Amino acid sequence: MRSLLRSALRQHDADHVPVLADDVRALLAVKPGETVVDATFGAGGHAALLAADLEGKGRFIAIDKDSTVRPYFERFQRRAGVPARFLRGDFAVVLAQLAGNGVEVDALLLDLGVSSMQVDRPERGFSYAADAPLDMRMDPSVERSGRDVVNEADVRELTDIFRRYGEERFARQIAQAIERRRRERPFERTSELVETIREAIPAPRRFGDGHPAKRVFQALRIVVNDELESLERALPAALQLLRPGGRIAVVSFHSLEDRIVKRFFAAQARGCTCPPEFPVCVCGKEPTLRLLTRKAARPSPAETAANPRASSARLRAAVKT
Ligand SMILES: C[S@@+](CC[C@H](N)C(=O)[O-])C[C@H]1O[C@@H](n2cnc3c(N)ncnc32)[C@H](O)[C@@H]1O
Repeated sequence: MRSLLRSALRQHDADHVPVLADDVRALLAVKPGETVVDATFGAGGHAALLAADLEGKGRFIAIDKDSTVRPYFERFQRRAGVPARFLRGDFAVVLAQLAGNGVEVDALLLDLGVSSMQVDRPERGFSYAADAPLDMRMDPSVERSGRDVVNEADVRELTDIFRRYGEERFARQIAQAIERRRRERPFERTSELVETIREAIPAPRRFGDGHPAKRVFQALRIVVNDELESLERALPAALQLLRPGGRIAVVSFHSLEDRIVKRFFAAQARGCTCPPEFPVCVCGKEPTLRLLTRKAARPSPAETAANPRASSARLRAAVKT
């Protein structure tokens, strides 16, 4: 039953390669009869593997803010072998709603960032490699797109965004070049932004560190989709949703995301919040998580070679005490 289900599910997720899939499965250790939440459903690659581990018993909740994943979910639902629901929305909001409704969960996955399916659709504007409207919204119903940020943020804000979220060395030069260009005509398309970035970076440095627009596109995407704030809000909601013994795994692709996860897990695993100078604990707070990964798990060289998008992935997991 188990291998039949797994192969049936696998045949249909060939368009997305789930990152660190074996580690995610091992750490979440899903058992038949459990309730599983995939809060970043995407193309359903991880979901297929986790659903197979339910062996036809249990239930599955899929969340994604991008409504275009629905056909992937419908395909998954037909093959999942267990009842499965799709909830469209920001995971920070949906997880809190589920917890508020008294739902209890045994395994929960957050595989952060953008999916290959989103990047590979040029019309979504996530890719610097294709000309398209400068959009970058994971949820196409939110108001502010990449175009709005690029046309409206002042030079200081843009510099800060590129530096903080893209670690872009030429942040100020790029922000100033954007400001000069948009005085003539607002930015509409990804190719206009790529051209402006390229011209703002000194020629010898243009190709030292990947595509010259890579870091700015990443930074804009993080801001447009409020990615770090959503994660900050989602983690406490996820913890509340887990049953004692429930597992949470988070795959992140950016050092700032990983830092948020690491700090949250460490604080929950510590329990006591008394200042270090107190000789004894007076707060009485007990740990709520036990770490399953002391150091973040990283993809093997073989996985990175087969799937370059996995190269920056870090996986942390914990179990609710
Ligand atoms: C890296 S992909 C997940 C891929 C998935 N694990 C798979 O194997 O196919 C991340 C997905 O999470 C969604 N997402 C990102 N941030 C979100 C948020 N705050 N709330 C809900 N969905 C989010 C994106 O729209 C995207 O589809």
